[in-house]
Amino acid sequence: MKKTILITGATDGMGKIMATELALQGHHIILHGRNKEKADNVKLDIQQQTGNENIDIVLADLFSLDSIKSMTDEIKQNYSVLDVLINNAGAIMDKERSVTSDGLEKTMMLNVYAPFLITYNLIDLLKNSKQGRIINTSSGTHRVASKPNFNDLQFEQKYSPSNAYATSKLFTIWLTRHWSQILNNQEHHHVTANVWHPGAAATSFGQANDKGFINNMVFKVALPFMSTPEKGASTAIYLASSPEVRHVSGKFFGKLKEEKPREKHYSEVNEQKIWDHCMQVTSDYRMPSLSLS
Ligand SMILES: NC(=O)c1ccc[n+]([C@@H]2O[C@H](COP(=O)([O-])OP(=O)(O)OC[C@H]3O[C@@H](n4cnc5c(N)ncnc54)[C@H](OP(=O)(O)O)[C@@H]3O)[C@@H](O)[C@H]2O)c1
Repeated sequence: MKKTILITGATDGMGKIMATELALQGHHIILHGRNKEKADNVKLDIQQQTGNENIDIVLADLFSLDSIKSMTDEIKQNYSVLDVLINNAGAIMDKERSVTSDGLEKTMMLNVYAPFLITYNLIDLLKNSKQGRIINTSSGTHRVASKPNFNDLQFEQKYSPSNAYATSKLFTIWLTRHWSQILNNQEHHHVTANVWHPGAAATSFGQANDKGFINNMVFKVALPFMSTPEKGASTAIYLASSPEVRHVSGKFFGKLKEEKPREKHYSEVNEQKIWDHCMQVTSDYRMPSLSLS
């Protein structure tokens, strides 16, 4: 069955590979980018490589709540069904903490609030699918996240790019579980939510920005030893397209199979806290019609 698949951060790295491979399988791809020229070039490239003309572009700066709202409004106007949402875009930030125009710490904005808001605003379209799939992107580094400080979710008191990144990817696992549970509780068993990690894959991830001397060195030295982006992206492609996982929800995947995430800092209370925090941060930009608790 041909699916309509939205992939965020599809203009580079693993997102571009997912878009290409899923286009090759014949699916209708909605390619998200933040730069029109880059997105246009990627679209053309994928069309030429795959012969699939069914590639659309949506644009949004995922550092901006307003830009995300405009993008999801546009998608809701133009599509009635979304079969797969791959929240792939993500990054590690610089050694100095920085905030968006909304005043939000950038790692949390891009890796946590953006996928949360996109999913929230598009949940009706996913429910309209015969079998909707939400696929969130975590990282093996969630295992080294320090104990989250729920009084400092913007890392104002203590910030390092690596811990902000690891924590954001830990929250991604918890939020995916929450999505899965809510969908189940509301009897929307036909919509699943899973989370995956790619391992270390040689993309432009973390290569260009200044994460501090040691982190910069680690990223450069590790690059030749990382797996290919194709190998990294394979788990997301599997979760998007395989019939094997159609009834699987709330799980963490790596290397094409279920894995156990680190549970040290996990509790249902903490899961609810991060969910409530995302609800509060995104409150002015969420579609008002939906009742999710
Ligand atoms: N590579 C790894 O080893 C690794 C390991 C674990 C997890 N991950 C996760 O895997 C996902 C994909 O990573 P990757 O390695 O493919 O990274 P990448 O090559 O750096 O690609 C990141 C994508 O996200 C987009 N993006 C970044 N900031 C954005 C913003 N503010 N607004 C809109 N789009 C934005 C980029 O857009 P542009 O093309 O415009 O730059 C690009 O398309 C991320 O969530 C990352 O955290 C990666």
